[in-house]
Amino acid sequence: MPAGAKRFMRMKEIDGYTRTCGLIGNPVEHTLSPVIHNTLAGLTDQKLCYVPLKVEAERLEEAVKGAYALNLLGANVTVPYKSDVIPFLKEIDPLAEEIGAVNTLVRTEGGYKGYNTDMPGLYRAMRSDGVRVEGEKVLVLGAGGVARAVAVLLARYGAEEIILMNRTPEKAQRIADEINTMTKTAIARAMGYEDYELLPKQDRCLAIQATSVGMYPDCGDVVIAEEAFYRRIHTGYDLIFNPKKTRFMELVEQSGGRAFNGAKMLLYQGIIAYELWSGLSISEEMADQVFAAMEEA
Ligand code: ATR
Repeated sequence: MPAGAKRFMRMKEIDGYTRTCGLIGNPVEHTLSPVIHNTLAGLTDQKLCYVPLKVEAERLEEAVKGAYALNLLGANVTVPYKSDVIPFLKEIDPLAEEIGAVNTLVRTEGGYKGYNTDMPGLYRAMRSDGVRVEGEKVLVLGAGGVARAVAVLLARYGAEEIILMNRTPEKAQRIADEINTMTKTAIARAMGYEDYELLPKQDRCLAIQATSVGMYPDCGDVVIAEEAFYRRIHTGYDLIFNPKKTRFMELVEQSGGRAFNGAKMLLYQGIIAYELWSGLSISEEMADQVFAAMEEA
């Protein structure tokens, strides 16, 4: 069948019952979210269509209200609006509130409820890769918004200890203090990258790379290059997915650890959002099919 005919068949599936979801952000041109959600709609036989919704910063409130008025079932929210969108929601899920960032809007009576599926997405990716958080000592590299979100996730999902490492250690210390206050524990502490020698040598850790260092086109960059650091890591997660194998991942593997990139986190944040919109639960087999569609795209 010619490509045009195939496209027409797909368009024909859109009818008066089709619900719309979309991605609010700027830019939105390079997103994989339409692939994730339109593949899921096909696999689960739902009348749902997902489109990019580019929004200028000063029109965010209008966009959220407009989406609601236009009966959109839900939306994802991406850079740079994950925190800015919060004042325009009717309600916010407690985990998203603690993280301070919302990436999924779900239609409710009178407005949207905001969720964060990025962090539960990371957790589900780790589970699917056989990586445990519960009872683990975890190193978080970075102290930006993403690292903070990771630290909240780890605290809430049963990590034993969280060590935030950053080029500017004071920023890491601020997040550690926040996490300890939030959890009423002393679960989190902070250090600079050069202090890795203070980490115990005998028990290896899970490490999560939550900075943008090493992202395309600066693929050779890494926040810490010393081999001795990587000997302290049994599993390394880099939240970057372009390139597929970052320098951080190479260094983890060279020291005998297992390494993963952020592609599955992207997959599962989408799957959890889709589950919230559709009320369905997505099987691992379907998740594999969506992942294949993402890789093809
Ligand atoms: P995000 O919201 O994506 O987490 P961010 O808040 O800008 O982004 O945080 C970026 C993180 O990457 C920070 O931890 C930053 O370190 P500093 O707090 O010391 O600035 C880290 N980062 C960025 N460029 C870096 C570099 N060249 N070397 C080391 N760390 C870097």
